[in-house]
Amino acid sequence: MGRLDGKVALVTGAARGTGSVMARLFAEEGARVVLADLLDDLGGAVAAEIGPSAHFVHLDVSDEEDWARGVEATVERFGGIDVLVNNAAVLLLAALDQTSREDFLRIVRVNQLGPFLGIRAVLEPMKRRAGGSIVNIASTDGLKGMNGVSAYASSKWGLRGLTKSTAMELGRYGIRVNAICPEAGNPNMSAPFIPGHPDLSEVPHEMMQAILKAPAEARPESRLLDVARMALFLASDESMSCTGADFVVDAGLTAGQVQRGAPSA
Ligand SMILES: NC(=O)c1ccc[n+]([C@@H]2O[C@H](COP(=O)([O-])OP(=O)(O)OC[C@H]3O[C@@H](n4cnc5c(N)ncnc54)[C@H](O)[C@@H]3O)[C@@H](O)[C@H]2O)c1
Repeated sequence: MGRLDGKVALVTGAARGTGSVMARLFAEEGARVVLADLLDDLGGAVAAEIGPSAHFVHLDVSDEEDWARGVEATVERFGGIDVLVNNAAVLLLAALDQTSREDFLRIVRVNQLGPFLGIRAVLEPMKRRAGGSIVNIASTDGLKGMNGVSAYASSKWGLRGLTKSTAMELGRYGIRVNAICPEAGNPNMSAPFIPGHPDLSEVPHEMMQAILKAPAEARPESRLLDVARMALFLASDESMSCTGADFVVDAGLTAGQVQRGAPSA
């Protein structure tokens, strides 16, 4: 018995990184999965590896017509839609005075408008199934502030607001909407902004280790797997009472800090 037996899931940004880990895990747990992305070759290859229970569609999440086509293809191929994971996103690491109006709008179009359009696109098919689960991948940058992410953090805080508001509206149809706030993701997302710089993910890893010791073999892929496992829980019927909530996957990083010099450090 798989934890998603009989369910059909659409995962955006599934060609690589966290989305591809989720798509594989969902399929292992019995779901039929549609992988959506701009990266056709990579996405098609991941779907082909998963096998007949997976299908790739080209879908720009900021394009309403792409959403209509992607959702229609999902329903045609697998008969309906039960789960939407709004995972696709883009990052901008830049100081405020280096972030133009166009930069800001580009980030918000993908990370905030994208999930909004996605939720609207799956509404009717989910109503026809008398329920569904929508999982929005936010970030710990949607829970706190950090330098260099004014556009990205705005979009992720906005996504949490969208999550809570739509949960209030869609619960009457049996549709649950939740957000995951991971600290970790694909290091390739930030790498282009810091050429020659040590991997940014090393820094939180050190801070995490001060709070919660992880086994040596637990990184970095296992941190993505933790996010995917949280999405699996929210996609499944195991989370029937969960809606409108943030599920933080950050090894305690936003909970506080271990203060050197104070007792029990
Ligand atoms: N990388 C991190 O450190 C980190 C940390 C916390 C949260 N997150 C979040 O995790 C999620 C997954 O990111 P990731 O870390 O796997 O990075 P990633 O760059 O590997 O994955 C993002 C995917 O989204 C796709 N994408 C980008 N724009 C798109 C568009 N307009 N339409 C469709 N697909 C598009 C990309 O092609 C890519 O496959 C994102 O929501 C991200 O914000 C990432």
